[in-house]
Amino acid sequence: MIWLIGSRGMLGTELSRGFDEAGLAYIGTDLEVDITQESSLEDFAEQRGPFRWIVNCAAYTAVDRAEEEPELCRRLNAGGPAHIAALAGKTGGVLVHFSTDYVFNGKGICLENSPEIRPYREDDPPDPIGVYGRTKWEGERKVREYAEKSYIMRTSWLYGRYGKNFVTTMLDLMRKRDRVSVVRDQRGSPTWARDLAETIRIIITRGEEGRAIPYGIYHYSNYGDISWFDFARGIYERGRELGILTRDCAVNPCTSGEYPSRVKRPAYSVLDKTRIQEALGITIPQWDRSLEAFLKIIRGNDA
Ligand SMILES: NC(=O)c1ccc[n+]([C@@H]2O[C@H](COP(=O)([O-])OP(=O)(O)OC[C@H]3O[C@@H](n4cnc5c(N)ncnc54)[C@H](OP(=O)(O)O)[C@@H]3O)[C@@H](O)[C@H]2O)c1
Repeated sequence: MIWLIGSRGMLGTELSRGFDEAGLAYIGTDLEVDITQESSLEDFAEQRGPFRWIVNCAAYTAVDRAEEEPELCRRLNAGGPAHIAALAGKTGGVLVHFSTDYVFNGKGICLENSPEIRPYREDDPPDPIGVYGRTKWEGERKVREYAEKSYIMRTSWLYGRYGKNFVTTMLDLMRKRDRVSVVRDQRGSPTWARDLAETIRIIITRGEEGRAIPYGIYHYSNYGDISWFDFARGIYERGRELGILTRDCAVNPCTSGEYPSRVKRPAYSVLDKTRIQEALGITIPQWDRSLEAFLKIIRGNDA
């Protein structure tokens, strides 16, 4: 039995859908089992467990607001995972936990003797530059400290059908406005929540079949090294082709300096996916293919 924590969030909803489709038995909980309260987690595990898998999608994900609520953010992103990991450790369950590209500082890792930078690998040193990234990094350390059997999946620029995200926000703006400006000086890779959910399903299925991949940290996003501006342009172009967007909207590049914000965001956060690809033998989709599949679902044709 799988315990899916944070089941009503963006990723949690996709995981529920994937587990249903694959016929994997799970119980989902969200705010009703508060991850910041150790006793609430323990009571639930006692009543409904034991769980062979605990998948934790609950988190504080409002990156901007986190700068104003550092304590609340820390309780959710470090305290919650610590309680969950301790429970998994005690009960022998396998914990799947999610983290973020924001654990890195966004300067990239320089290639030897070259001005070029390369994508971040799992063993590159984290150096978060904001409250959200710092608390997620602390959460990772707690998970590794307390849960012997754990997978930490770092992902980036997540979007999906449920909850507010860049794609749905852009579609909304592009329907209402004649122009949008989007930053071109932050690069990374988008991740369709459904692709990540499918990868988690494969990890669990392999574990159940006695072919578990090694525990530890893994990076997962779609393929691509693009800016938010490129992503917005892709959304507009595909949206127009598919008839989701029916009016013209100019998509213009700008710099993050033009949008003063309290929160510093990593300028470069492409993740190296070699480890998960080799462990599972999967092919990770390109960002634009996944975006198109997602937009087709939004259009309703392929739902
Ligand atoms: N979104 C991204 O771009 C992104 C990028 C990289 C990594 N990640 C990571 O991926 C994971 C999933 O992200 P997501 O975007 O799916 O998050 P999300 O949509 O914000 O979902 C989190 C869920 O947890 C619930 N929750 C909040 N506080 C809780 C508590 N005290 N106890 C139990 N549940 C609680 C939330 O409820 P309410 O909504 O009612 O508060 C929500 O349903 C997170 O670990 C996140 O850090 C996300």
